[in-house]
Amino acid sequence: MSEFLQEMNRRRTFAIISHPDAGKTTLTEKLLLFGGAIQLAGTVKGRKAARHATSDWMELEKQRGISVTSSVMQFPYGNRIVNLLDTPGHEDFSEDTYRTLTAVDSALMVIDCAKGVEERTIKLMDVCRLRDTPIMTFINKLDREGREPLELLDEVEKVLRIRCAPVTWPIGMGRELKGVYHLLEDFIHLYAPSKDGRINEGAIIAGLGSDEAAAALGPDVIDALREEIELVQGAADPFDHADYLAGRQTPVYFGSAISNFGVQEMLDGFCRYAPPPRPRAADARAVAPHEEAFSGFVFKIQANMDPQHRDRIAFLRVCSGVWRAGMKARHVRLGREVKISDALTFMAAEREHVAEAYPGDIIGLHNHGTIRIGDTFTEGEALAFTGVPDFAPELFRRARLRDPLKTKALVKGLEQLCEEGATQLFKPLNSNDLILGAVGVLQFDVAAYRLKSEYNTDCLFENVNVTTARWVSCADAKRFEEFRNKCFDNLALDHHGELVYIAPTRVNLQLTQERWPEVRFSATREHG
Ligand code: G4P
Repeated sequence: MSEFLQEMNRRRTFAIISHPDAGKTTLTEKLLLFGGAIQLAGTVKGRKAARHATSDWMELEKQRGISVTSSVMQFPYGNRIVNLLDTPGHEDFSEDTYRTLTAVDSALMVIDCAKGVEERTIKLMDVCRLRDTPIMTFINKLDREGREPLELLDEVEKVLRIRCAPVTWPIGMGRELKGVYHLLEDFIHLYAPSKDGRINEGAIIAGLGSDEAAAALGPDVIDALREEIELVQGAADPFDHADYLAGRQTPVYFGSAISNFGVQEMLDGFCRYAPPPRPRAADARAVAPHEEAFSGFVFKIQANMDPQHRDRIAFLRVCSGVWRAGMKARHVRLGREVKISDALTFMAAEREHVAEAYPGDIIGLHNHGTIRIGDTFTEGEALAFTGVPDFAPELFRRARLRDPLKTKALVKGLEQLCEEGATQLFKPLNSNDLILGAVGVLQFDVAAYRLKSEYNTDCLFENVNVTTARWVSCADAKRFEEFRNKCFDNLALDHHGELVYIAPTRVNLQLTQERWPEVRFSATREHG
């Protein structure tokens, strides 16, 4: 096999999805610890502030340095190269999460064993289902009292509509937690908590039926366990690799991220079963990862990671071929060739500069305003990857400057922040207003804070008479012109210059849609 194919097949690119507080941050730390990317857990701590409150976000701002690497964490494990893409915990940043999920090949779902399936997990699961993303499940916090394991699996099956195949099974819970049993490999891993961040060894005992197992757990526990496992094997689906890859079945692992327990079994299973880079849909055709010509798409942009340099980083997922330092690539939307000389790579454990990236890897491109979310780069072919959405915002505010002389800086700041995709800028055709749209209210606080600190403009966001927005288009140019003239007062341009209908009420939107059946009103706008 060529070196390229070997490198490609080693890649495993995934994201963790969970409801806030289920333990995503803690688990991330442990995975990095196993991957040797960090010496002791604790490094990722700062990130979790992002979900709590603006003040925490602002505190996080000071640590921007870490957010470059924590957006993408690459580490070697066994013979694999794992790319873990971070998704923000706070629901006000959910668009960013949705787009990040377009850049992964699989996902890991974390569920709190006391809480079961929660609201945000349901939403994220729906997003994964759109492209049949394979999902592994980690049921966390076994060191606390939780719900019956079978009941939890039942809930996952019913609420998330995916079959469960338990791979490990808890032996007790909370204070009675004794370990986990590996159903596929027939061994018991005894529980030995390690809160200080070291990799937890805990004894491994081969064979549920062995004398050693009986001796280690005692007669009562082993009898109950043997009975329970028989029941589980009868009641639950056996693990089926093909079903997992097709997104029909989720293998389930149990553990306690905080005590570093059960994590290794999950990570081993992940490295063994999770898919290597998968093909990607593009407008002209699907692109297979083993194609030798380089291609990739941008799924995330982050502005001002280093406030000194005002840089904006575009995160590109490599879909095929090899990216090599200094190579030229075609920026498909602009139709021109660009040199990608100083891309960032994210090998957390290695110090030396990584000069190549393979399918599944993420590279960070310096963006000087020419790159948008959804942009495709190729080695020459004019194809565009599809499926990276912009969502119509649900909240709208008008930006009002305290110092009117700063308008230019405000427009520039708003445009650059909007490149990140979390907020969207609308300029009504009939006024000079600047309307910011967002999916979560926290975005306005963050925008105001960043405009001040990064662009030195002091502004307020005040209420505006807009409740919803739709991108509009029409195949009939003449009719579209009529629509434009009639609805002039409700039309705006977004920051890409595309026409948007901004409605004062939902009823108004509905009536307009009925009145103009030829016009397409779209709640998402695909990038690219
Ligand atoms: P998130 O990123 O999904 O939001 O969750 P995070 O890891 O921040 O964990 C949320 C809380 O749950 C944290 O407690 C964390 O310590 C705790 N936790 C995570 N995994 C486990 C586990 O396996 N067992 C138990 N018992 N707790 C766990 P916190 O009090 O909010 O924060 P902290 O003060 O402990 O940092």
